[in-house]
Amino acid sequence: MAHLTLGIETSCDETAAAVLMDGRQIRSSVIASQEALHAPFGGIVPELASRRHVEAVWPVVREALTRAGATLADVDGIAATAGPGLIGSLLVGLSFGKAVAYAIDIPLVGVNHLEGHLYAALLEHEDLIFPFTGLIASGGHTQLYLAEAQGQYRLLGRTRDDAAGEAFDKVAKFLGLGYPGGPLIEDRARKGDPDTIRFPRPLPQGGAYDFSFSGLKTAVVNYVRGARCEVRGAVGPGQALPKAGAASSAPTPTAFTLDPVLLADICAGFQEAVVDALVRVTLAAAKASASSRIVVAGGVACNGRLRSKLTQRAADERIEVYYPTPSLCTDNAAMIAAAGYPRLLRGERAPLSLNADADLDLGLM
Ligand code: KG4
Ligand code: ZN
Repeated sequence: MAHLTLGIETSCDETAAAVLMDGRQIRSSVIASQEALHAPFGGIVPELASRRHVEAVWPVVREALTRAGATLADVDGIAATAGPGLIGSLLVGLSFGKAVAYAIDIPLVGVNHLEGHLYAALLEHEDLIFPFTGLIASGGHTQLYLAEAQGQYRLLGRTRDDAAGEAFDKVAKFLGLGYPGGPLIEDRARKGDPDTIRFPRPLPQGGAYDFSFSGLKTAVVNYVRGARCEVRGAVGPGQALPKAGAASSAPTPTAFTLDPVLLADICAGFQEAVVDALVRVTLAAAKASASSRIVVAGGVACNGRLRSKLTQRAADERIEVYYPTPSLCTDNAAMIAAAGYPRLLRGERAPLSLNADADLDLGLM
């Protein structure tokens, strides 16, 4: 008989629920985005996020059930994100899942959000098998794993400072483009030349597979300041540049306008630097581990330039790269249900004492 898994995801700023049949077939996937709520602040405000999750979680779950043509009575097990993420946000989805599981006496498992991102690729690509090298690049994470088998992950490297998506978001905020920054920068970059401005590709000392993106953000800020002096009219007359720190602090209305051609070249140059770092380190890790498969997941995996460059470079090494479709790269509950399904099938059942963990690890060094 078919197994229906209800996935619940509230780790960050999306309230999501999905119904998955037999761990593979998405019967429904509903995502209530909080993008508009946080946009004026140029980043996520945790307190606002958890309040909105409280309002949205039941309507989103109900909608997922309706679209799947199911009721709670049809659900065989629940998979809810237990971490990592914003603790107030995580608690909403996990507590909701535990309450439902208890009320109707079905099993629940807590899922690591990062494992969920990797499962987004497994969900869609039936030919994808373990082991593989997994890059998770999102707004909160940039981590590289050797995924040895189901539930067995070895952390190979991580960012030392900003996550890749965070760098996109901060640079976009500084440039006055809005939030979330990734798609906005990618859009501008299409009109620019990636070779006109060469930003640094920082390589942190020590960990061979680590990343660092905060220096790159500073390089963009410094470049724009320099451009303001050197290129007359590059910045609108009489307009002040925001302070360097403004890229990471509270909302600041953008007080300058860059020439559109220069803006496009800055976006293209910045994107190229991030993509180069991700491609180089991920390929090096895959080659060293002798795995012939790479999975790239998380919001930054939507980036077209990253997809084309990595696929091309990997092909030269006879490595195949798997990406989830863009709607499954960003946070969703289908990936959480997919990661929870094999464990539910094995009879796993989390105790009601299961707690959310903002720093939950997925595999250790
Ligand atoms: O996975 P996700 O939805 O949420 C987190 O778990 O963080 O990722 C969101 C992040 C944001 O930082 C966003 O700017 C970035 O993914 N992103 C992109 C693109 N689309 C989303 N970054 C680069 N290029 C894109 N096309
Ligand atoms: Zn995520």
